[in-house]
Amino acid sequence: MKFSDQLEARFADMLTHYPIKRSVLVPFLLYVQDELGYLTDEAIQEIAGRLEITPLEVRNVISYYSMLRTKPAGKYNVQVCTNISCLLRGGEEILEHAKKKLGVAQNHGITPDGMFSVEEVECIGACSWAPAMQVNYDFHENLTPEKVDEIIEAYRDKASK
Ligand code: FES
Repeated sequence: MKFSDQLEARFADMLTHYPIKRSVLVPFLLYVQDELGYLTDEAIQEIAGRLEITPLEVRNVISYYSMLRTKPAGKYNVQVCTNISCLLRGGEEILEHAKKKLGVAQNHGITPDGMFSVEEVECIGACSWAPAMQVNYDFHENLTPEKVDEIIEAYRDKASK
């Protein structure tokens, strides 16, 4: 499998920064996901081959990190934390509100226009500012339903420009 020239150059460069090849795995998975939208079976095979590990080892790592996915997501992937700190401060209500606002019935659901997906996740490391969610690489904290509406509208605006 061939990645873009930019990604190939990045991979070659990353290998020079780590003493052990497999240390490239997590950052490279993120770059591949950014390029493809999600981690396809073909990409997993390719990455495993390059790093001389098994596809199962790659899948195990993917399953550990909520930011990595093997299924398509929306352009903006809304990940709402419902772990303990967020749970105690309304995380489940935030999740339900986000789903309702976007018309997404199930976990990992995608809006018909492909713009948003919504996913329930474990702790994203923003416990002090719970409830929190992450949209792609951006964190949003101290959420209320009103704040969620504003954030989603801001992404909609951004996408329309
Ligand atoms: S429990 Fe939600 S960010 Fe840690």
